[in-house]
Amino acid sequence: MRILLFAVFVSCYALDRPEPFDFIEDAILKYINHSVDPCDNFYRHACSFDSPHNPIEASLENIIEYAKKLQNDSFWNKLEIYWNLAFGFNLHIGDFIFLLKNIRVHLDVDVRQGIYGVRELVNLIVEAAGNLVKETPWAKNEHVVAKIENITSQLQIHDNYGKDFQLAVDTLVNVEKSFVLCKTMFDFVEHADLFCFLIGARTTTFPDLKPFSFSQADNGVNFHPSVAFGFPNYHHFQHGREMSTKLGYTGTTVGHEVGHTFFDNHDRLELLPYFSKSVQDCVQNQFNSTCIEFQEASCATSFEFLDENGADIFGVHMAYKLLQDYYGSKITDKFERLQMTYEQSFFYSYAMSFCSGTPSSVSFVDDGLYEGHSAHNVRVNVVAQHPAFQKAFNCSADSRMMKSATKQCHIYGSKAPETRKRRH
Ligand SMILES: *[C@@H]1O[C@H](CO)[C@@H](O)[C@H](O)[C@H]1NC(C)=O
Ligand SMILES: *[C@@H]1O[C@H](CO)[C@@H](O)[C@H](O)[C@H]1NC(C)=O
Ligand SMILES: *[C@@H]1O[C@H](CO)[C@@H](O)[C@H](O)[C@H]1NC(C)=O
Ligand SMILES: *[C@@H]1O[C@H](CO)[C@@H](O)[C@H](O)[C@H]1NC(C)=O
Ligand SMILES: *[C@@H]1O[C@H](CO)[C@@H](O)[C@H](O)[C@H]1NC(C)=O
Ligand SMILES: [Zn+2]
Repeated sequence: MRILLFAVFVSCYALDRPEPFDFIEDAILKYINHSVDPCDNFYRHACSFDSPHNPIEASLENIIEYAKKLQNDSFWNKLEIYWNLAFGFNLHIGDFIFLLKNIRVHLDVDVRQGIYGVRELVNLIVEAAGNLVKETPWAKNEHVVAKIENITSQLQIHDNYGKDFQLAVDTLVNVEKSFVLCKTMFDFVEHADLFCFLIGARTTTFPDLKPFSFSQADNGVNFHPSVAFGFPNYHHFQHGREMSTKLGYTGTTVGHEVGHTFFDNHDRLELLPYFSKSVQDCVQNQFNSTCIEFQEASCATSFEFLDENGADIFGVHMAYKLLQDYYGSKITDKFERLQMTYEQSFFYSYAMSFCSGTPSSVSFVDDGLYEGHSAHNVRVNVVAQHPAFQKAFNCSADSRMMKSATKQCHIYGSKAPETRKRRH
């Protein structure tokens, strides 16, 4: 009887496992508003107002929920140190448990092939951009090609979940062991838990944890020389059905993060030895123009937005290059499922990570400055400046998208600007 019950339980449980699906294709089919012309307002054509706040995270909810259930028995849910005190004091321990949970989502749902694929993508984009640097007039004139290469060639994806997992386990086990030992020794002390926690927290050296190494959020990060991406990117890279949507969604995100190393602020250099002011102005002018034409709740183009805007332009440029390399002349072929060309699906997939049912706006951080990411609709509609967009959607020159487009900004490559004035 017991055995029978167990078998039934297992089969129900197995049925629970959500089937992997291409959530980008799914979102494209769900959220296009055919009453809006893509050449009039691409963002509101691709992203109707009835989409959730973040369609990608919403569509992965079942999968994440499934992974959470699997983790219920994990040892960290039983650590004394965690349940007794870690939340209250928040001394790193919560961060390590969070990392373990995130890595287990990647393993239980198994997106390892996706992680591998995204690593290739990072390498391809770094290499392609490195080749563009060699042809860049402003970099050549300033004799900084080798220096830029030295810096950008350090870029790598942070994808070693095995090592991170081990680090987190070792750390937690050590803290737990000394906590339990201490409690046994000081059993007679009132508030022994608290006493031992404080002793443990003071005497343990916690290894440095990079934020966002393995995250469930639809996002990426550049903590130079490492870049890392969220679970949704890995999942889609593994289960997406067309390279065009993978490049439109994950390729542009990888390009954006890599772009944070390749794009700098000319008068506040962080990584690069020199950066072109005309490139910077070109980027800001495009965002300004798009902001003026398409403002929803709010948008702005002050200096706080420069880094993110530059990374956006760079990211789309590089991902589109890979799209061209991959499809060649087939780029304008239609594919059945979505009834659109590969090239069009690239732009739609880019839009999907910015869809939101509410009007787009910018936000502020604590010190009263802008948060730095342009409004979602602006980030999407600046693709108008990429010549491929006009071609893909056959937009007329007097459409709103084309009227808002400035000349394409070439950050690197032979079409990038010369240096006008030599800086010391
Ligand atoms: C679709 O676009 C039309 C035309 O702008 C608009 O009236 C309608 O509200 C939109 N629908 C959704 C769900 O966003
Ligand atoms: C995890 O297990 C506890 C019992 O140990 C149960 O109450 C809880 O609902 C479980 N959570 C999930 C997400 O399965
Ligand atoms: C790269 O730069 C570092 C210091 O910034 C220097 O030590 C190293 O030699 C450089 N490598 C190359 C190949 O130029
Ligand atoms: C954006 O354009 C407006 C009007 O053309 C101008 O007043 C403003 O200074 C511009 N902002 C930036 C950051 O270029
Ligand atoms: C593009 O649009 C023009 C009119 O603006 C039309 O004549 C032409 O047939 C269209 N081309 C395609 C491929 O749809
Ligand atoms: Zn960024």
